[in-house]
Amino acid sequence: MHDDVLTGKKIILGVTGGIAAFKATYLVRELVKRGAEVKIVMTPSATEFITPLTLSSLSGNPVIVNVFPPDQRAGTSLSTWHIDYALWADLMIIAPATVNSIAKIAHGFADNALTTLVLALRCPLVIAPAADVDMYENKLTRENIQKLEQLGHYLVLPEEGDLASGLKGKGRLADNSKIVDAAEIVLSGITKDLTAKKFLVTAGPTYEDIDPVRYIGNRSSGKMGYEIAKAAFLRGAEVTLISGPSHEIAYQEINLIKIRSAADMKKAVDKEVKNNDVLIMSAAVADFTPASVAGKKIKKENKLSSIALKETDDILASLNIKGKIIVGFALETDNELENARKKMSNKNLDMIVLNSLQNKKSGFEVDTNEVTILHKAGALVNFPLLSKFQTANKILTEILKIEYK
Ligand code: CTP
Repeated sequence: MHDDVLTGKKIILGVTGGIAAFKATYLVRELVKRGAEVKIVMTPSATEFITPLTLSSLSGNPVIVNVFPPDQRAGTSLSTWHIDYALWADLMIIAPATVNSIAKIAHGFADNALTTLVLALRCPLVIAPAADVDMYENKLTRENIQKLEQLGHYLVLPEEGDLASGLKGKGRLADNSKIVDAAEIVLSGITKDLTAKKFLVTAGPTYEDIDPVRYIGNRSSGKMGYEIAKAAFLRGAEVTLISGPSHEIAYQEINLIKIRSAADMKKAVDKEVKNNDVLIMSAAVADFTPASVAGKKIKKENKLSSIALKETDDILASLNIKGKIIVGFALETDNELENARKKMSNKNLDMIVLNSLQNKKSGFEVDTNEVTILHKAGALVNFPLLSKFQTANKILTEILKIEYK
């Protein structure tokens, strides 16, 4: 098992009264599955959309709805339950947060159990707004959200899409996975330390076509690169992700460029790298590609016994750019450190991330990874088996140690 930041954490989930309140059920389940202890506070209007009994069953704890008197089963003293809760929590999440609750929190109201508790909090607060498009885009709402950000709260902004009203637009509660990612970032003590930086990340395999139906690929899922892109975005960076064929889904806010072959990837990297401060080449780029692509499907009767291959261009080695931080990956099976160092110097990298294949839970098609990071300046840092998201954050923190050229 690897360490999960959420395991053992005490989280209060605040649920306010919007149609997205039903999504809180899945959020509680995910937090509990990840090992967090969850206590829930609802506004009275939230109970119109979802019952306290449902959330209490899923969290395993009583749910608080009324300021006074609070639910007798809450196991806390009647008059000071909000203080007890505030002192207990490592984190509070409000999802969904209606524009009404956002306005109240932005102005210090304490007129229900949830807003009263928020005023007493000592822990960080993650807020995920949800509203219909016009209510969300309303100038007052925008100002209130800005105020919450200025106060240091962590906003997980809504997405564009179909809304319950039938309208389309911004306002749909962010996906639960995004809210959990935000919780993980905040609980890890990571701040928006990459604000104003531009990151270019590559991910996934490349597919080298043999004919119109067949290709040569590799086992990379793209997960590591997508997690790096996500972590960099969550830490405030502007992110472009160049991805080979992958089933991973990128945040809407990430500029995603989909490519297929090593040659496509080279073209995209060469074009984008000049607009960025950092390049992280985590893609598993093919080293060889068919010497020619058959225009028609190769039939069985052709009795094909071999495919002529040619070498692809090495994207990193052929980069002709100065003033950027360049990070590569190395996947080695033997003489790991020596080979990684050689790669770092041959490809003129500032840092290389060595993927260990010694551990079965590390590498391709798994959610965890165990890496060693080598800096050009000589430092070597070993990391234990971590989730790919945590590994991504370690990589970004190491990049911050490199001086901008
Ligand atoms: N890479 C690249 N262009 C290629 C192949 C690889 O830019 N045509 C990058 C990868 O994205 C990675 C680094 O180079 O960041 C090392 O890739 P890896 O496959 O480990 O090494 P190779 O240079 O391909 O060498 P070998 O296969 O011999 O280990």
